[in-house]
Amino acid sequence: MSKLCVIGTGYVGLVTGACFADLGSEVHLMDIDQSRIDGLKNGIMPIYEPGLEQLVAQNVKSGRLSFTTEIAEALDGAEFAFIAVGTPSGGEGEADLQYVRMAAETIADLVNSPIIVVNKSTVPVGTGDWVADIIAKRRAGKPLDFSVVSNPEFLREGSAINDFMSPDRVILGSLDQDAAVRVSHLYDSLRCPIMITDLRTAEMIKYASNAFLATRISFINEIATICEELGADVSQVAQGMGMDKRIGRAFLDAGLGWGGSCFPKDVKALAHMAVIHGSNPQLLQAVMEINRNQRRRALLRLRKELGSLNEKVIGVLGLSFKPNTDDIREAPAIELIHLLENEGAIVQSYDPQAMENAKGSLPNIRFCNSPYEVAQNADALVLATEWNEFKQLDFERIAQLMRGKVILDGRNLWDPDRMREMGFTYFGIGRPNNKLYE
Ligand SMILES: NC(=O)c1ccc[n+]([C@@H]2O[C@H](COP(=O)([O-])OP(=O)(O)OC[C@H]3O[C@@H](n4cnc5c(N)ncnc54)[C@H](O)[C@@H]3O)[C@@H](O)[C@H]2O)c1
Repeated sequence: MSKLCVIGTGYVGLVTGACFADLGSEVHLMDIDQSRIDGLKNGIMPIYEPGLEQLVAQNVKSGRLSFTTEIAEALDGAEFAFIAVGTPSGGEGEADLQYVRMAAETIADLVNSPIIVVNKSTVPVGTGDWVADIIAKRRAGKPLDFSVVSNPEFLREGSAINDFMSPDRVILGSLDQDAAVRVSHLYDSLRCPIMITDLRTAEMIKYASNAFLATRISFINEIATICEELGADVSQVAQGMGMDKRIGRAFLDAGLGWGGSCFPKDVKALAHMAVIHGSNPQLLQAVMEINRNQRRRALLRLRKELGSLNEKVIGVLGLSFKPNTDDIREAPAIELIHLLENEGAIVQSYDPQAMENAKGSLPNIRFCNSPYEVAQNADALVLATEWNEFKQLDFERIAQLMRGKVILDGRNLWDPDRMREMGFTYFGIGRPNNKLYE
C-alpha cells in the first residue's frame, strides 16, 4: 500500500485523494482551510461533485482516507506528496504561484524521508524546476532525497470521478525517470495509456490541451456568429463537421462561451507565458476575445429586443459555468448578469447547485426556487447553463408567467420551431432567423 499526502482539498485534490484511496493507497488529505477540513471530517463535501460524497465516505470507513490541517501529520512517512492547490490568475494574467510556493516550502521544512513531489496543479512551464529549486535551497544544510514529477490533471468538474478512474491518458513528466515510473505505478490498475516526458513538456501538454479545447469552442462560436447573419444553423454545421473523423464532434457547441476555473485562467496564463518570452500569441488572444464577445452579443440581443434594459426583468436559468457543478468561477452567467446589472436590469435566477456560491458575487439579484419563479414577470428569459432539469420545462406555464415573450437560449437547448410555435420570440446561438444586424 503506497502512502500519499495530498495538499489541497479542492475539486482536484479531494477527487484525486478519494480516488487514490479507492484504488488502495493510504491517503492523507491536507488543507489550510480549517472549515473545509472540519466539514470533511463530518462528511460534509466542500464542493458539489456527483458521487463524491459516497466515495469519500466509503474510503474514510475503510481507513484509507483521512483529513487534516496539520501538514506534518499528513506528510509523516509519505512516499508521495501531491500538490493540488489553486493557481488562480494574477493581475497580468499570469498564474499566481503563491500557494504552490507555500506547499513546496512546507514540504522542504517538514519532510525527513525520501519523497516524490507530484505536481497536479496547472502550473507554468518551468514551475517543476522552480519547485525543485525552492526545496533544494531550503534544505541546503540538510539535503533531502526528493524528485519532482509533473502530473497534470485533466478531470472535468461534473464527471470528475469517472474522468479520474477512466482517463484518456496519464501524463507524467520528470527529469528523474525512476520517480516518474514510481508515480505511474499508482495508476497501474486503471490500465490507461501513460506517457512519460520531461518536466516542461508535461507542463505544456496541460496548457496546450486546455487552450486547444477553448479554441474549438471559440471557433464554433465565431462560426455561429457568421451563421446568424447568413441564415445557417450552427448546430447542424457542428454535426456535419463532427462526422469528419479528423475533426470530431466534441467541444463544438456554440453558446455563451467557455468559463470555469480552468480555461479562462489557463489560456490567459499561456498567452502571458508566450508574451514574456517574446512570442506573439495572436490565436490565443483571438480565442479570448471571441469568448468575451459571446456574452456581449447576448446583451446586444436583449437590448435590441427590449430596448433599454433599465428596470427590465431578466430571468437567468443556471449560474454554474457548466451543468453538474456548483463552480461559478468565470461562469458566463455571472459575467452576463454583471453586464445586465450595469444597464439597470433586474435579474432573477435559479440554479440547482450554484446559488449558495453565487450569493457573494451577485448580491443584488433575486434567487428563486424554481425555473418557474425565474419566469415570473420576466421580460426575457435567458438559458445560461444547460442543466438537465431545464431540458423539459412546461413552456405553456412559462408563457403565462412571463411578462414578455423573449427567450434567449444561450446553450441551444430548446427546439427553435417549437418555441416559436408557442409564441415566444426565440433566439438561440448561431441559428437561422437570428440576425442581430439587419
Ligand atoms: N477544477 C478543475 O476542474 C481542474 C481540472 C484540472 C486541473 N485543475 C488545476 O488543479 C489545481 C487546483 O484546482 P482546484 O479547482 O482543485 O482548486 P480549488 O480552489 O478548488 O482548491 C484549492 C485548495 O487548495 C487549498 N490550499 C491552498 N494553499 C494551500 C496550502 N499551502 N496547503 C494546503 N492547502 C492549500 C485551498 O484551501 C483549497 O481548498 C489548479 O491549478 C487548477 O488549475 C483544476
